[in-house]
Amino acid sequence: MTDTNYPKVDYLLQLSCGYWKSYILFTAVEFDLFTIMNKGRLTAKEVSQAIQANERATEMLLNALVSLRLLIKQENHYANSSLSNCYLIKGNPNYLGDYIHHFHNMTDTWAMLRETIETGNPVSLKDLPEEVDPHDLRDFITAMHNIASVKTEELCRKLDLKGAKTLLDIAGGPGTYAIALAKANPELRAVVFDLEHTIRLTREFIAAAKIGDRVTTQAGNCLEDGFGENMYDVILVSNLLHIYNTANNTRILRKCRDALKECGLIVIHEFVLDETRTHPQFAALFSLNMLLGTQEGASYSEPEYQEWLANAGFDDIKKIDLESNSTLIIGKRR
Ligand SMILES: C[S@@+](CC[C@H](N)C(=O)[O-])C[C@H]1O[C@@H](n2cnc3c(N)ncnc32)[C@H](O)[C@@H]1O
Repeated sequence: MTDTNYPKVDYLLQLSCGYWKSYILFTAVEFDLFTIMNKGRLTAKEVSQAIQANERATEMLLNALVSLRLLIKQENHYANSSLSNCYLIKGNPNYLGDYIHHFHNMTDTWAMLRETIETGNPVSLKDLPEEVDPHDLRDFITAMHNIASVKTEELCRKLDLKGAKTLLDIAGGPGTYAIALAKANPELRAVVFDLEHTIRLTREFIAAAKIGDRVTTQAGNCLEDGFGENMYDVILVSNLLHIYNTANNTRILRKCRDALKECGLIVIHEFVLDETRTHPQFAALFSLNMLLGTQEGASYSEPEYQEWLANAGFDDIKKIDLESNSTLIIGKRR
C-alpha cells in the first residue's frame, strides 16, 4: 500500500467502525456520565464507583471518550469537554441526551437494513404513534423536544412572523417550535395539532413553558381531519411530511391551504434533498431511516416540495437553510 492510498483506506475503516463511536456515546449517555463528570475532575476509579461499573473497563471507556473529544484528560483525571458541557448535561436547556437515546433505540431497526432493501418493506410498523407503547412515545417526543430546543433560536430569528396573530403547528409533537415562536412574537397565539396520544404529552410541555394562555392543543389525525377554514396567518408543518407519501402529503398541504387566511404562510421544516437526491448527506441517510421505520416515508427533494406546494395552491415559494441539517420551505397562500 502506498502512502497516497491510506486516506482512502482510512475513510473505509472510519465508515466500518462508525458504530463503535455511536455505542461509546450511547453508553456514556445511558450512564449519564457527563452529568456525573459535571461535579469536577474525577479519576477512573471515582467514575467507576459513581456508575457502579468495573474500574478497568470504565478507564477504557473514559480514554475512548477523550479520543472522541467528549472528555479531556489531565494526568489521571477526567473532565467534560466544552462540547459535553454544552449538550450532554441533564437539565441544561441544550441537553441532547434524549435525542441521542432515540438514535440508540433505532439500532435494532438499522441492523435489518439488508432485509428492508430486499423487500422494500419497513421492519417496524411502529411509525404511527397509536402503535407505539407509551414509554417509547414519551422517549420519542422528549427526543424531538431536545433537538427542537437547540434549533428554536435560529428558527425564530430567520422566520419573520411580524403581524401574524394565529399559528397552527400541525403534528407539533412537544410543541417546542410553537412555544418558542409564541414567546418570540408576543401577539401570536398558537394551536398545536397532533394525535390524541401525543397531545397528552404536548400539554405537559406547554404547562412547563408556562404559556398555556397563548399555546393550546387540538387532537386529531392530519390524514383524516380538516384543520378549519380561513383561520390562521401561519401554519408550521415540521418533520411530518417525511412520514408520508406524495398523495398523502398533497392532501395535507391542500387542507393547510384551506385553513390559512388569504396570503397566509405555510412553513415546512424538513431534511430537504437537492434535485440529485444525494445531498445533503444527512437527508440522504435519513431517507433510509424512514424506509426502515415507516410504511411510506422518505426524505423529499426541494423540487418535490415546490411541486406539492404549487399544486396545493401556494406561490412565492422560498427556501431558508438552517445552520443545522434542516431547511425551511415557505409558501404564500394564493
Ligand atoms: C417527527 S415528530 C415531529 C414533531 C415536531 N413537529 C417537531 O418538528 O419537533 C412527528 C409528529 O407527527 C405526529 N403525527 C404523525 N402522524 C400524524 C397524523 N396522522 N396526524 C397528526 N399527527 C401525526 C406525531 O405524533 C409526531 O408528534
